[in-house]
This record gives sequence, structure tokens and C-alpha cells, in this order.
Amino acid sequence: MKEVFKNLNKGEKDMKKVFKNHQERVGNTPIVRWGMYRDVEIFLKLEGTNPTGSLKDRSALAIIKNKLENGELKKGMRLLDASSGSFACSMAYFGNRFGFKSVVVVNKKLTRINDMFLQGQEAEIIHYGDVTGDGYRRCLEMIQESPGKYCFLDQLNNWASPQAHYDSTAPEIIEAMPDVDFIAASMGSGATLCGISTFINEKKPEVKIIASNGKMGGKKIAGTFVEGPDYITPFIKSLQEKKLIDFIGYVSYEQAINHVRQDLMTKGFNVGPQTGGVFEAVIQAIDTLNLRGNLVIISGDHSWKNMDKLFPEMFS
Ligand SMILES: Cc1ncc(COP(=O)(O)O)c(C=O)c1O
Repeated sequence: MKEVFKNLNKGEKDMKKVFKNHQERVGNTPIVRWGMYRDVEIFLKLEGTNPTGSLKDRSALAIIKNKLENGELKKGMRLLDASSGSFACSMAYFGNRFGFKSVVVVNKKLTRINDMFLQGQEAEIIHYGDVTGDGYRRCLEMIQESPGKYCFLDQLNNWASPQAHYDSTAPEIIEAMPDVDFIAASMGSGATLCGISTFINEKKPEVKIIASNGKMGGKKIAGTFVEGPDYITPFIKSLQEKKLIDFIGYVSYEQAINHVRQDLMTKGFNVGPQTGGVFEAVIQAIDTLNLRGNLVIISGDHSWKNMDKLFPEMFS
């Protein structure tokens, strides 16, 4: 377990490398031990340490680079995509790094801090619908209305996104923790789990995959897919068809927030609701299947971007 931090004091290790730019800072996120729950030792891979505070930096950077390489992204174009917030921030931030402004179609899941972040990146913000699937349909209309104006990143269908997790997130886990038994993550577009579980299926099929889905009804957790009203992406279809997920936990917004406040932040994990949701799915999996071994949670979000959701009483 060479890169796994047993406590929170070894971050200085990363400081030995000097980064030439912010793109280099994406990925290689730390894995930190949370503790034991029953017979399972739980670790969190802290994607919130990426430049904009979420795992979507991996996808946005990979897609933008891919579009530049294949010539689809040309000078003067605007980047366009739908997102509940995290991907929008990553797109606007990395778009700016490469000299492109962004138009983001966001929905009700957008946090106030993400909204401010997007304004800081001078993104054009369009509020539309309840879920990213609604925004996706609006993007398609916008492309028809103004041909050639936008470069549509299409995170819900672009295979460069799961590829980024196949190429980086999954190998990072296996390199740091060769003795991992379980990996848990949420499904938003499904790209993270599609990339990770495809890699695991090929290289280490004994590792079991746990997913968190949102419960129907009630408030929605960003980065967490709800069966029924949400879209189905090709990544989720592929996960279902190839049966790459071993356990799905269904999680409410309230459960997710409570875990962050009571079980994660109290132990120094500055994470957001997506992570609380995955934590709940993990507890359900351990209780249902009596698991034993080492488990890594992909913690997709940082608390700073979600403070208004985590502590609404302070933002009224
Ligand atoms: C913070 C966060 N974590 C995880 C996810 C899920 O990632 P994916 O879309 O790759 O399934 C999302 C997606 O919106 C997210 O915003």
C-alpha cells in the first residue's frame, strides 16, 4: 500500500513535484484511510484534490484534449455542455486554460458555490430543467440554432470520459492498493464506473464493484443517477449489459448529507454529498453481503463546493 496515507499528515510528499501547469495536477489523487466498519477497512480516494475540487476534472480535460487533437475544437468556438455543476466547473476552468470560453446548461442541482465559481470563470450560465438529461436536449437545440458556434463536449456520450478513468483512476488505485477487494463510486453519467470496472474486469476481476444510485422522489444528489426520470447513457447501458456492477445501493439526499456531516467531516474528510451517498451504499453493501476486506470509495467532490448543501442553516 505504498501511496496510501495512513493519516492526514503526509500530503507534503506531493510537494516534491513541481507542476508546469494545472493540467498536470489532474489525477494522482491521494487515498486516505477512514477506518473499519465491521470487517471492512474503508479508504477514500480524494478526487476533491483535483484543481476544481472534483473528479470531473479528469473527464473534462480528457475530452477537451481529445477535441483539440481531432480538430473538432477550433479557435473562436465556445465549449458547450450540460451538467449539474461539477463538470461545468471543470469545463469552464480547463476551457480557459486552453483559451476557450464556455456555455454551461445547468439545472436545479447546481450549488451556489459552483454558480459563483462558474461566474468567476466567466462562463455563460443557462438554467434549464431538473437533471442533466434536460440540459443535454437543450444543448442539441442550441447546436442546431447556431451551427459552428459551439464545440459540444457531450459528457453523457463521449467515450473519452470513461477512457480517462480506465487510463488513470483505476490503475492509480491498483498501483497504490494491490490488495483492494472492493471499489465503490456513484453513477452520474456512469463514466467513472464504466472506465474503472472495465479495467478491473480485464486486470483484476476478483475486485467487486459497488455503485450508489439516488432514490426515486425527494431531492437529488449531484453526481448520482436516479433510475426512471433521468437519462440512460451508453456508459450505464454498457455497465448493465456487461453486468459490471456487483451491488447497487439506493440512497436518499438526507442520508448522503448526514453521512458527510456525521461520519466523514468529523474524521477530517472534507467531502461533499456525492461522497456521503457512496458511503451509504457501502454501508448497505457491507450489511447485506457481510463483506470482509479492503474497500476504496471514489470520493468525487470536495466540501468547499457544497457548503450551501451541507450546511443550509448557515446560508438561509
Ligand atoms: C462530484 C461528482 N462525483 C461523481 C460523479 C459521477 O461521475 P460520472 O458522471 O462519471 O458517473 C459526478 C457526476 O456528475 C459528480 O459531479
